[in-house]
Amino acid sequence: MREAEYTTAQAKVAFTYNSRSPRTDPTHGRRPHRARLPNEQTRHQMVNAIQPPSQNTTTRPRISFLGCGYLGATYAICFAELGYEVVGFDVDAAKIESFNTGVLPMHEPGLPELLKKNLESGRLRFTTDVQAVADFADVHFICVGTPQRKGEHGADLSYIETAVVNLSKHLSRKVLIVGKSTVPVGTAQWVQELVDRHAPEGLGVEVGWSPEFLQESNAMHDVLRPNRIVYASQSEWASQLLKDVHRGILELAAVEDREVPVVETDLATAELVKVAANAFLATKISFINAMADLSEAAGADVVDLARAIGYDQRIGNRFLRAGIGFGGGCLPKDIRALSARAGELGVGESFRFLDEVDSVNTRRRTHTVRAVADLAGRTSGPNGPDLSGVRIAYLGATFKPDTDDIRDSPALDIARRLRSARADVVVYDPEGLENAKAYAPELSFVKTLAEAVADADVVCAMVPWEEFRTLDPEALGRQVAERRILDGMNAFDPEQWRKHGWSYQGIGR
Ligand code: UDX
Repeated sequence: MREAEYTTAQAKVAFTYNSRSPRTDPTHGRRPHRARLPNEQTRHQMVNAIQPPSQNTTTRPRISFLGCGYLGATYAICFAELGYEVVGFDVDAAKIESFNTGVLPMHEPGLPELLKKNLESGRLRFTTDVQAVADFADVHFICVGTPQRKGEHGADLSYIETAVVNLSKHLSRKVLIVGKSTVPVGTAQWVQELVDRHAPEGLGVEVGWSPEFLQESNAMHDVLRPNRIVYASQSEWASQLLKDVHRGILELAAVEDREVPVVETDLATAELVKVAANAFLATKISFINAMADLSEAAGADVVDLARAIGYDQRIGNRFLRAGIGFGGGCLPKDIRALSARAGELGVGESFRFLDEVDSVNTRRRTHTVRAVADLAGRTSGPNGPDLSGVRIAYLGATFKPDTDDIRDSPALDIARRLRSARADVVVYDPEGLENAKAYAPELSFVKTLAEAVADADVVCAMVPWEEFRTLDPEALGRQVAERRILDGMNAFDPEQWRKHGWSYQGIGR
């Protein structure tokens, strides 16, 4: 592993030296800007203009992000904010149109404002035209999805294959293609082979890797101010380009007097870093959820337990919130893909514990359904509980707060299980209603918290949105039919709720 040569201290010098240049000024965003978006014609010209390769790739390479989901869109917008000229590519024309008109087609705090601002600056555009992308960028980041393969645990790499092959065929000069999507180790080598096969002969296009660690709901911050940068390349040329690509982040850190560690490593390690990090986080959550089961059985309180062990800095207090388990587009599929890949490489036995991490996590869902049935005074038969006639105010559908993402959402899955047990489930979520409705049409959805809780027999508070965490037990008590609450977020003070006449049930307490 090589130590990165370009440090935050050097970035500070570079920033001071270049501070008059708008291309290298990460504070450009604080200046007043025109409140006008590029019109249709200007945008069309920007996107379709075939621009010459940037002359000075050592300071600010031009960048493309292929795949404009939660990951690629955030990166595209934030790198424009850092002063780079950026194009975002996606095959979904409606999505691209939405970005280009300044409307973020997803919920992510802070990003809508940044999108508008950087469209106005002219540094950011989105397109479905792969030729324009190939002509424009010096560095192409692959940000497409790698979902779980249907009926298997391994990752589906078909979106990566399509993006890489498509791009390669349109290239006309040497560029760097950098993988950002989460992949099984060995993928970078395969991507290089794809490029060699499909790019015009003799260009010498290279592949590098640079995993991302952004958390939805905090994505903008995680990209602009990451806690580390990791990348891998196969040559000095590519290593220099990767340094230049990340220069803007280090310059911003220098201005804010922060350090951002840079780890430069080999391709296989860079690929593994991401899945290793996610597997570790998932393990931490399942560990505390297993402790929640034990706490319930022993009459202990897992919330106090987590606080007490978290003060040990070797353990740390983050990702120790027991509850309904982890979900989302990353953790569940990443641990399965890691375990599957380890099996392919002959070390599957060492990763059996990840299967257990997965099982502990999915068991949260049956466990929670049982807890709701207990609260409602219904016993479980061989086919699970019968909840017919029970009206449930169901608060939360997304996989976590401050996002509209419902991928592998534990809350939504539990809602469906309660519906299967014949409960009348009325769901409210601040941002996830539309996505949830499309995925689970059998549930009832309402647009306000008040509608959800009216005459409820049980309130299930499942996703720690601020609107739910700040609920007042007395005010809520006046709206429901029965004062019964399942706190799937473990966010409330049980004594407080019991004092107001509620039957309170948390997770592991
Ligand atoms: C995760 C990683 O955190 C991020 O670094 C990586 O780049 C992508 O995958 P994300 O999927 O956005 O990010 O969500 P995260 O905040 O990690 O939460 C994942 C799930 O774990 C959520 O369902 C959340 O509710 C749950 N969780 C988190 C817990 O149940 N308990 C905790 O203590 C923390």
